[in-house]
Amino acid sequence: MRIVVTGGAGFIGSEFVRQLAKRGLSPHSYNVSGLEGDCPRLIVIDKLTYAGDLKRLDEVKGKFKFYKVDICDKNKICAVFQKEKPDIVVNFSAETHVDRSIVDSSSFINTNINGTKVLLDACLKYQINKFIHISSDEVYGEIEKGVFNEDSPLQPNSPYSASKAAADLLIRSYIRTYGLPAIIVRPSNNYGPWQYPEKFIPVAIHSVLKGGKIPVYGRGLNVREWLYVSSCVEGIILILKKGKPGGIYNLGSGFRKRNIDLAMAILNKMDKPHRLIKFVRDRPGHDLRYSLDSSKAQRLGWKPGIGLNEGLQKTIDWYKESLSWLNSKI
Ligand SMILES: NC(=O)c1ccc[n+]([C@@H]2O[C@H](COP(=O)([O-])OP(=O)(O)OC[C@H]3O[C@@H](n4cnc5c(N)ncnc54)[C@H](O)[C@@H]3O)[C@@H](O)[C@H]2O)c1
Repeated sequence: MRIVVTGGAGFIGSEFVRQLAKRGLSPHSYNVSGLEGDCPRLIVIDKLTYAGDLKRLDEVKGKFKFYKVDICDKNKICAVFQKEKPDIVVNFSAETHVDRSIVDSSSFINTNINGTKVLLDACLKYQINKFIHISSDEVYGEIEKGVFNEDSPLQPNSPYSASKAAADLLIRSYIRTYGLPAIIVRPSNNYGPWQYPEKFIPVAIHSVLKGGKIPVYGRGLNVREWLYVSSCVEGIILILKKGKPGGIYNLGSGFRKRNIDLAMAILNKMDKPHRLIKFVRDRPGHDLRYSLDSSKAQRLGWKPGIGLNEGLQKTIDWYKESLSWLNSKI
């Protein structure tokens, strides 16, 4: 089994590579036996943008092959596919920060849409058995009450989420038109070790560690569904194994919190007073609430695993121990 992982030097992609390199295709919470026979050959492709870092893969060094390639570069992607002959392609590569997409969406359109098209064409050309695309809950837009399921309409509100939704629609067309065996996964907000400190949780922890205040957009009323990164990757591995080609799967934890409450929870865990919250000008077009129905993935046997309390503690502990990495990013 040969698996190409694009964006494997990023936050979630690297967790995927670490889990597969250590355990093969059997996530520990489901089945540890049969690991040897299940162990895939891993090929990581990453452009190493500001968000990519091979340090995330240090602990599995030697267990994967690496290509520094831009997914928009058709010739190079085809050359890697031709040489490595992958059975499965899992695409994590993307421009991922909403605020950056508001300043300039060019790289988002390029990587998230054009880059996905290059991968889709290569998957067709080299007759890949499965293409797993990591999308986002943000493609649905915001929901005041209730939950989005996989049939909910796509109503993205930021250039980032619009580029992710566009890729999802392109994939849909390749499934329908060419019979490409693709699966789309839509996770909710991830957090955990190794996340680049531009996203809310690492920004908050880093600010407190530096003796500063946690910046919270608007009045902090925006609700996000927080999913610990290793639990997300367990879900992706399960979908890779058991998901239906052509299917879409939401992956949300059910742990929903307003940003203000999350900031207070972080301060509580770090033994700091709530006055260390500073409200800053709201993000333009800021979605109020995300909330997923993940019963389809749960029916495959997935459970969100690590809860928010435990996950936050693990994350804070990790950043405290990894201050030099954190500081090197800012
Ligand atoms: N982090 C979250 O909370 C979250 C939630 C839902 C969905 N997602 C999706 O999951 C995927 C992974 O997210 P992440 O948080 O790990 O992102 P990340 O920003 O940490 O990593 C992205 C990786 O892609 C690489 N990359 C960017 N452009 C590339 C290109 N043109 N060619 C090759 N590599 C390129 C970067 O170097 C980096 O290693 C993304 O598709 C994102 O949209 C993320």
